[in-house]
Amino acid sequence: MNPLPRHDHYIAGEWTAPADGGYFASVNPATAEPWYEAARGTAADVDRAVGAARAAFEDPRWRDLSQTRRGRLLRNLGDLIGEHAERLARTESLDNGKLLREMRAQLAGLPEYFHYYAGLADKIQGEVIPGASRELLNYTLREPVGVVGAITPWNSPLLLTTTKLAPALAAGNTVVVKPSEHTSASLLALAPLFEEAGFPPGVVNVVTGYGPEAGAPLTEHPGVSKVTFTGSSATGRRIARTCADRLIGCTLELGGKSPNIIFPDADLGSAAMGVIAGIFAAAGQTCVAGSRVLVHQEVHDEVLERVTARAATIRIGDPLEETTELGPLAIAEQLEKVESYVELGRAEGGKVVCGGGRPETGLDGYFYSPTVFTGTDNGMRICQEEIFGPVATVMPFGSEEEALAIANDSAYGLAAGVWTRDVNRVHRMAARLEAGTVWANTYRSMSPMSPRAGFKTSGMGTEHGTEVIREYTRLKSVWVNTSEEPAGDPFILRS
Ligand code: NAI
Ligand code: MG
Repeated sequence: MNPLPRHDHYIAGEWTAPADGGYFASVNPATAEPWYEAARGTAADVDRAVGAARAAFEDPRWRDLSQTRRGRLLRNLGDLIGEHAERLARTESLDNGKLLREMRAQLAGLPEYFHYYAGLADKIQGEVIPGASRELLNYTLREPVGVVGAITPWNSPLLLTTTKLAPALAAGNTVVVKPSEHTSASLLALAPLFEEAGFPPGVVNVVTGYGPEAGAPLTEHPGVSKVTFTGSSATGRRIARTCADRLIGCTLELGGKSPNIIFPDADLGSAAMGVIAGIFAAAGQTCVAGSRVLVHQEVHDEVLERVTARAATIRIGDPLEETTELGPLAIAEQLEKVESYVELGRAEGGKVVCGGGRPETGLDGYFYSPTVFTGTDNGMRICQEEIFGPVATVMPFGSEEEALAIANDSAYGLAAGVWTRDVNRVHRMAARLEAGTVWANTYRSMSPMSPRAGFKTSGMGTEHGTEVIREYTRLKSVWVNTSEEPAGDPFILRS
């Protein structure tokens, strides 16, 4: 057997072998076969990468670049990603098992993210503050924070890297990215494009490896001024604790248990498709998965019938095939997790009305059937804990108040869907749902322009939109005495 292709870290614009010589394999989840090896990063590699990023941050080639020019580089990178989109989409699909169709659509959208922040780069500015006295000029500078450590998950590797990288670079920072150990390939394939776009070496660095070995040292490194993370709430909490000890900022985009709520006046056909999109797209492996489906009792049976009828016809198989609708779970552990949650749901008294096991695909990958539970109570663990797989619980409700109470009875607060033709109800629900994103008569829409925040244990800080620039800058207040008058009484505070 041929040895697997091997990839090193990308540090200061160079492919850099791991300090201790270790590599680890990444698996194609559709076949359960390893298909490449990546450098198994340790604290020593992180130290090199942070050193390179720190040097690049202070290098006049980056530090003194005009903001317009910085924007130009981001624009170039977006264009290059557009040119390489097909190759990158395939790489992601091979690494995490998501549908090639879906990864193509994501990759086709990525240039827009870079272009959006390219346009924002020269609009990051301070302001002049009216002084208490005419002689004192007071203004603010919005400065980059320094080296940003970005840690990303496996479900949408390049999209979730871009939402961090693009604003961090627009604001003038340098970055070290630690991708998920399950999906390093697409970012490594992208890395040479940083230099091609014109970014000086060291502005973006990639260290691959496992969370505790490579991710943790990145959050602990004194040269890192800010951490940005997407992944599980458990890891997010650990990272937040480290950042608290170091008194540095962190932006966290974590898990969810999002309600998708259907009222009797909704277009039930569209609502049922919204349920399918919410929980079975990407095999449920999205942070915004609409895993708790709340249906008004008058239409409960009809909606359930429509959802299970469509779920039963979902085509499961090779994610590279155009006609496939549901690929495998991304990693073996995820399959085990989903299996154990379905067992737990049965033990808790839930009834599986669709799916509930592994399908026959003829492939060795980590496939799991689209699964629907009824007879669940929102207090059960399968309604409270993130499963991150194709498992929905369908629960009835009787009134708007009851729907809100169930929807908000969650530790999470990432997203929510509402299906109704009553425009007043849409706005009432939007105001009272405890979720960073509310969708009405649609699900999973996103855009670089629209802010995304996780409420409650779903996160801290904002991604996307213009607000995110605050996460990657620090605000400095500058006071200038313009008066020629001799200094006054030194024992009195001047304002
Ligand atoms: P994870 O949260 O452990 O991993 C995400 C990233 O954090 C990876 O790059 C990992 O290497 C890194 N990491 C892990 N431990 C770390 C540490 N101590 N310090 C610094 N970095 C660390 O998620 P994992 O294990 O891949 O998946 C577990 C569960 O997380 C899933 O079953 C799912 O419920 C949830 N998840 C949620 C995502 C979301 O989009 N909100 C994305 C991926 C997973
Ligand atoms: Mg993989």
